Amino acid sequence: MQGKEVYEKLQRCLACVREKTSFQPRVAVILGSGLGDYAQSIRVEAEVSYGDIEGFPISTVPGHAGKFIFGFVGETPVVCMKGRVHYYEGYDVTDVVLPVRLMKLLGAGILLLTNAAGGVNPSFHAGDLMLIRDHISVFAPNPLIGGNIEELGPRFPDMSRVYDRGLQETIRRQAAEHGIYLQEGVYAQLTGPSFESPAEIRMLRMLGCDAVGMSTVVEAIAANHCGMRVCGISCISNLAAGMTDRPLNHEEVQEAADMAAPRFRELVTKAVTAFE
Ligand code: HPA
Repeated sequence: MQGKEVYEKLQRCLACVREKTSFQPRVAVILGSGLGDYAQSIRVEAEVSYGDIEGFPISTVPGHAGKFIFGFVGETPVVCMKGRVHYYEGYDVTDVVLPVRLMKLLGAGILLLTNAAGGVNPSFHAGDLMLIRDHISVFAPNPLIGGNIEELGPRFPDMSRVYDRGLQETIRRQAAEHGIYLQEGVYAQLTGPSFESPAEIRMLRMLGCDAVGMSTVVEAIAANHCGMRVCGISCISNLAAGMTDRPLNHEEVQEAADMAAPRFRELVTKAVTAFE
């Protein structure tokens, strides 16, 4: 899709949401696979199902029921995406990042991305949380390909600090203060939907990657392009292919997310309320 069409679609989506709520979020949160229960921690003011937004991409993955939840975490106004769309579902990558751009236009200046990821770093364990320090995007399509949307950002945006230092420091501090063990590292997005081969995991490790998944990076690039401050937390749901004797499956992702859920909930709540 060309930039002009993408922007017009975005404006139509914005109008649809604004017909339903005038809520002004400050922080946007995207909940990753298995982490959707976090929505229970929000004092809900309004909900908008993706299906009620004209042209909005709708997730087909089990465990990704799709809606925006508007409300408060502590005193902080948030918009939370329960369910995201993935590139592997067959959507144009501009549709995959449309929700991020929409949340920016709704007022959110900060984006907290979360996901379930495979651990590539051998010192990681299933159930660990990892602060994303940087990413590797070269295995996923770039969401900014096509005519640039000048209303959103520049043609050649800088990506030397995608993950905001101040937000990272807040997450780190909150984890330490509340006794939540936090790994840190580089996340790579591959397209999926197949999991990686052991050789691909060895390649990623050589490239300096600590965790691998099928989301997040394209959203981080689009958010950075449109001037949002970005941060991210991965829930390590399994050690990546070839690191254990067992084959990988989607159920394992949910089980590890359940195990990490209390720590994840606490960390997200403390961080969101402490973001400056
Ligand atoms: N690989 C890619 N994506 C994932 C994985 C993995 O091992 N675990 C959870 N999401």
